[in-house]
Amino acid sequence: MPNRKLYIETYGCQMNVVDSEVVAAILLQHHYDVTEDINEADLVLVNTCSIRDNAEQRVRARIRDLRKLKEQKEQVSIGVIGCMAERLKEKLLEDESIVDLVVGPDAYRDLPALLEEVESGEKGINTILSLEETYGDIRPVRMDRNHVTSFVAIMRGCNNFCAYCVVPGTRGRERSRDPETILREASELFLNGYREVTLLGQNVNSYIWKKGDHPVRFEKLLEMVAGIDPAFRVRFATSHPKDLSDELLRLIAQYPNLCKSIHLPVQSGSSSVLERMNRRYTREHYMDRISAIRKIVPAATISTDIIAGFCGETEEEHQQTLSLMEWVAYDFAYMFKYSERPGTYASEKLKDDVPEPVKTRRLNEIIELQSRLSLKSKQQDVGRKFEVLVEGTSKKSQEQLYGRTSQNKVVVFPKKNVKPGDYVEVKVSDCTSATLIGRQV
Ligand code: 5AD
Ligand code: SF4
Repeated sequence: MPNRKLYIETYGCQMNVVDSEVVAAILLQHHYDVTEDINEADLVLVNTCSIRDNAEQRVRARIRDLRKLKEQKEQVSIGVIGCMAERLKEKLLEDESIVDLVVGPDAYRDLPALLEEVESGEKGINTILSLEETYGDIRPVRMDRNHVTSFVAIMRGCNNFCAYCVVPGTRGRERSRDPETILREASELFLNGYREVTLLGQNVNSYIWKKGDHPVRFEKLLEMVAGIDPAFRVRFATSHPKDLSDELLRLIAQYPNLCKSIHLPVQSGSSSVLERMNRRYTREHYMDRISAIRKIVPAATISTDIIAGFCGETEEEHQQTLSLMEWVAYDFAYMFKYSERPGTYASEKLKDDVPEPVKTRRLNEIIELQSRLSLKSKQQDVGRKFEVLVEGTSKKSQEQLYGRTSQNKVVVFPKKNVKPGDYVEVKVSDCTSATLIGRQV
């Protein structure tokens, strides 16, 4: 019998990208091949995100879209996996009649057995969360496009319980992955031609592996991965401001291949909002961490996540977010309107009382300020030279390549004799708020 064909679609964060690669690896061992053509598929999996209501709405629309596919090809099975599967469980099967399979983030090893149930005409569901599962032994099947940059999950779940966040509910408790398997996976990436890896976890600073003689903490793990090869760039995400240590910053300063860019989600610039969010740091503590970055790794760029209009946010509290943004002068930011998520502390104990138009206006003020800061950050680079890792051909022009600086800024430059995976020196001559423009020197 020929292998069945799997088509997998991924929404949400980078962790989901890795999860899709793990799922593909599991199914490859069970008579499936991955296809990039949905019309060829026997199984369509949608890997989903619950972080904000609009993320879920997008997935719902997509599932309804798939009805047409199922009408044309009755034998195709449709599965919903990931955070939305975990959050909604049986309800997804009830709401969306075309869905055959619902599998949460810790139950992917059960997919082959669940698919057998689906093949015999039943619905398959497993949303059991685990305290141990890290998929550490599974070699993800890479589905990225550029074969230069990739992600490695170093831990799963989250213990922080930020008041607004569904993740502890959808991904369960925090657990770290065996460092040996991380190192093996990262080394294999390098041997296969990859030149950059991003180590992923909800809060990488609390990574800890206790099973050997000496506990391995994040700093140690990072040093081991950085030691694979000087030509192998290493990034990580996400850091929690309450746990970002000077020791980690010194390490970043010490290793040229540890990228000089730090993502440090602030969420709000107001200590009272941070307290309601259960972030467990104050504005002052956050500023202290930024000062430490500026002092220890002066070359680093800093990016962040910001939520506008959290429960009870006053105008003054919002102004504090704007003033903190100015003070830090973020190079880049992801910015969101607060979206109440069922089951979170905020949805049960706090009131989502900032009116929608006010949330929108505050978010727009945040976005406007950030575009100004992003432009300023790029303008500072005009006239300077950077080592750029080439990732591919620019989407806009076949004659242009694009790549990234260690500071995580995208650079576009005319194609010469280089290919993806090469490092080149580029002198920046111009910029937009999103991109640096230059030429090889
Ligand atoms: N509403 C809006 N944004 C949220 N985030 C997490 N939960 C919510 C929510 N309920 C944002 C945070 C987080 C990023 C991944 O998504 O800024 O850092
Ligand atoms: Fe990733 Fe969070 Fe979305 Fe889950 S809910 S996919 S962890 S962003």
